Amino acid sequence: MGKDYLTVALAVCATRHPRRPMLITLPHILSSEELKRVRQLLDMAPWQDGRESAGPQARTVKNNEQLPHDCEAAQAVRQLVMAGLNRSAIFFSAALPLRVFTPRINRYGGHANAYGAHIDNAVRLKGGEPGNPTYVRTDVSCTVFLNDPDEYEGGELTVSDTFGTRGVKLPAGHAVLYPGTSLHEVTPVTRGHRLACFFWVQSMVRSDEQRRLLYELDMNLLSLRECHGETLETTALTGTYHNLLRMWAET
Ligand code: NI
Repeated sequence: MGKDYLTVALAVCATRHPRRPMLITLPHILSSEELKRVRQLLDMAPWQDGRESAGPQARTVKNNEQLPHDCEAAQAVRQLVMAGLNRSAIFFSAALPLRVFTPRINRYGGHANAYGAHIDNAVRLKGGEPGNPTYVRTDVSCTVFLNDPDEYEGGELTVSDTFGTRGVKLPAGHAVLYPGTSLHEVTPVTRGHRLACFFWVQSMVRSDEQRRLLYELDMNLLSLRECHGETLETTALTGTYHNLLRMWAET
C-alpha cells in the first residue's frame, strides 16, 4: 500500500510537476477585467528612466522605463497584482513569503528596450524609520506579465542557473517565480512594448533547496488528496510538511 502511494506520487510529480527547479509559472494571477484596468492605468502613466533605481553594475546594462513607486498608476496596479497573488495557493507554497519588496511596474520598447545580464542586489532597502530600516533579502524574484506576447517581439526573460538557461514569455496575467540568485536578463524588444510588474520576495525559508522540497511535498499532497481523498497517509504527510516548515522557517 505504502509503495503504491509512493509510485503514484512520483508519477504525479513527473507528469504534473516536472523537475524544473524553482522556475515556477503562476497562471491567471489577473483576470481579463483586471488586465483591462491595468492597461487603462498604464496608458496614462508617468513613465521614467529605469536606471534611477539600479545599482552601479545593473545601471550599465539596464535600459527600460518604470513608474515612480508613489504615482497613482503604480499604486493601483500594485494593489491589483498583490491581491491576485494573495489568491494564488501556488504563490504561497512556492515562495513562502515573509516580506515583499514594493513591486515595480516597467515597460520595454523603443530606445529603452532591454535589461542585459545581471544578478540582483542581495538586499534591498524597503523603508522603515530612520535608524530602524527594513530590508528585504531577494530570495525569490517574480515577474507578472501585463500584456500578451503577440503585442511585442523579443522581450524574453532569460534565466540562467544550475538548471541551465531558460527563456520565459507568458500570456498577460501570468507570472513566473525564479531564484534571486540567478543570472537573468530581458532580451531587446524589437517591436511594440512589453509591460510587466516585478518584485522580490524574502522567503521564510532561505534555502532554494529546502523551499523546493516543501513545494514538491505540498503539490504532491494536493494531488494525492484529489485522487484518493483524505487518508491516514495524507494526514501524516501533512504533519511532516508542517514539521519541516517549523524546522526551516524564520519569521
Ligand atoms: Ni534583475
